[in-house]
Amino acid sequence: MAYLMGIDVGTTGTKTLLIDETGKVVCSSVKEYPLYTPRPNWAEQDPEDWWTATVESIKEVLAKSGVKKEEIKGIGLSGQMHGAVLVGKDHKVLRPCILWCDQRTARQCEYITEKIGKKRLIELTSNPALTGFTAGKIIWVRDNEPHLYERIFKILLPKDYVRFRLTGSFATEVSDASGTLLLDVRGRRWSEEVLEELDIDKDFMPECYESPVVSGKISRQISHLTGLKAGTPVVGGGGDQAAQAVGSGIVKEGIISSTIGTSGVVFAFSDEVKVDPEGRVHTFCHAVPGKWHIMGVMLSAGGSLRWFRDTLAAEEIDKARKEGLDPYEVLTQKASTVEAGCEGLIFLPYLAGERTPHADPNAKGVFFGLTLRHRKAHLIRSIMEGVCYGLRDSLEIIKDLKIPVKEVRASGGGARSPLWRKIQADVYNLELVTINVTEGAAFGAALLAGVGVGVYKDVQEACEQTIRITERIFPQEKEVRIYDKYYKIYRSLYPSLKKSFSQVSQVVEEVS
Ligand code: XUL
Repeated sequence: MAYLMGIDVGTTGTKTLLIDETGKVVCSSVKEYPLYTPRPNWAEQDPEDWWTATVESIKEVLAKSGVKKEEIKGIGLSGQMHGAVLVGKDHKVLRPCILWCDQRTARQCEYITEKIGKKRLIELTSNPALTGFTAGKIIWVRDNEPHLYERIFKILLPKDYVRFRLTGSFATEVSDASGTLLLDVRGRRWSEEVLEELDIDKDFMPECYESPVVSGKISRQISHLTGLKAGTPVVGGGGDQAAQAVGSGIVKEGIISSTIGTSGVVFAFSDEVKVDPEGRVHTFCHAVPGKWHIMGVMLSAGGSLRWFRDTLAAEEIDKARKEGLDPYEVLTQKASTVEAGCEGLIFLPYLAGERTPHADPNAKGVFFGLTLRHRKAHLIRSIMEGVCYGLRDSLEIIKDLKIPVKEVRASGGGARSPLWRKIQADVYNLELVTINVTEGAAFGAALLAGVGVGVYKDVQEACEQTIRITERIFPQEKEVRIYDKYYKIYRSLYPSLKKSFSQVSQVVEEVS
């Protein structure tokens, strides 16, 4: 039997997963690490922490699974996107990695947009300059830490730094590289024009491959350190969203995914490059060779319910502890006692600003429509509904781009709640399905490894052999009608509040 390993370098931890060629999960291990916020709106991590977590989780999986190192045919990597890992000539990291959720680069994004022109930038990279993307971070270092910029030898994405440590190769792949704003997404290669305009040395960028292509092999030294076999092939892999999509079977037109994790993502496969002229959704290369994906990203989806749990749900947490339940089960059970639409209570899930569709770091969370009748159950359900309205915003843009949408696959922690699945089906007015795989990006990375080493013919075959539908949820007419009415109001709230959001941000800055 062939075994495949997927390693996902996430924001909270690194997950190493071992599957067999039928997709059965043999073993997995997660090792966590901290996230540093040295200033408001900044988010950094130490790449050495990712490396330690990778080594520890590989060792644990090998020890617990009992699988022989020779039986592991390939390794795939996935990871949090958009981070900038700056490596010097001595191959040492120059500073902590500036992460995807760091918001410090507003000025640099303005510079990029002015220098290249908004329209031309979208023509070249298929995306506008957003604070999360890598290019602004590189320019921020040049503007603020020139002594470090001078010493740059290579710029790597998080998973690609781990690849370098595992194999000694400086390499990336097209799906993750798409989130740098330095890739010609249409041509699937670094954009010489953008690099030149921004005066970023082309040699800083690693080799860029298609995702299933072998980009390095486990070195002898790392074989001693981890227990992996020297020479085991490591494929390109994918950015976490593309890898997660492979692991959910989003590899054909018509199938899209709706993921409620901390963030919320609607991900659609596309045979061709389709770009929203307003830049509200991202157009990136898919991990399926020669294909693309369109993706809307909400910043606080499951994160909104987690905020509620952590700040307002002491009673439910206590009940859960006593009854041996997950606090989210108690919360969603309470939410199920309230009718669809929460008697007019609407939640705007912009607790960390918003990316799709507003691209506004000043947007804020709102409970709109509170009355004396509203109880805690309404607040909880309105959060769940508000997140689905936010995801529907992405879905509507995807439909406007004439991307066929036949089936939505639910994934992420939010897919575990039957109520949240039902609300999604009703708010989208689409059939929602669940699948047998819940391992996310690490699973997709392992499948990409299987394609790269010839266990599967292609990515589609890898998905067909391992992923199947386990449940179908159909929208209910009555609820669809109610949600349609409230969704229209939801849509009108952000434009009415936009100015007030930014005024609040200004005052908060002035008085603090
Ligand atoms: C995608 C994105 C996140 C990060 C962290 O654009 O910003 O998915 O990759 O998970």
